Amino acid sequence: MWAEQLGKQLGRPTRSLAGWLNMAKKQMMELIASKKVTLHHCDVAAMPLRDSTVDRVFHCNCYYFWPDLRKGAAEIHRVMKPGALMVTTLRLSRVATIAAKGVMPGENWRPEAYMAALRDSGFTDVRMEDKQDRNITFQAIFATAFK
Ligand SMILES: C[S@@+](CC[C@H](N)C(=O)[O-])C[C@H]1O[C@@H](n2cnc3c(N)ncnc32)[C@H](O)[C@@H]1O
Repeated sequence: MWAEQLGKQLGRPTRSLAGWLNMAKKQMMELIASKKVTLHHCDVAAMPLRDSTVDRVFHCNCYYFWPDLRKGAAEIHRVMKPGALMVTTLRLSRVATIAAKGVMPGENWRPEAYMAALRDSGFTDVRMEDKQDRNITFQAIFATAFK
C-alpha cells in the first residue's frame, strides 16, 4: 500500500515489498543457492531470528517507513550480539524533500527521532556522520548494541 501511495506522491512507480524482495532474490541468487545468504520476508518489528545472534546490522532507506520506530529499534537490539554495530544510511536532503510531500508517517523520517528510539532501546554511542561517495554526500547513523 505504501508503495502505491509513495508512487502517486512522487509521480512515478515505486517498488512494493514483494518487488524489493524479488530484486534481492535475483541479485543474490548464487549466494542464496550456496546458503551464504538467507532472505526473510517479515516485519522489522517481528523478525524470525533468535536473541543475541546477529554480528552486524546494515539497513538503508528504511526506518522512515516503519509504523513504530521504537518497536523496530527494540527488535533489532534484541537480535544483535552484545557490542555489535548497527549502521544505517540515508540522503537526508532527499528524505526531507520526500517527507515534505506527506508520504511518511509523522516525523519519523527525522534522524533525531530514530536516534532517540535507538537510545531508548538500549543502543549506545548513537551518532550521525556525513559521508562521501564520489560526488554524493550522504549520512550514516551508527549505534552499538549495549547488553
Ligand atoms: C525505499 S525502500 C528501500 C529498499 C532498500 N533498502 C534500498 O535502499 O534500496 C524501503 C523498504 O522498507 C521496507 N519496509 C517498510 N516498512 C517495513 C517494516 N515495517 N518492516 C520491514 N520492512 C519494511 C519496504 O518494504 C521497502 O523494501
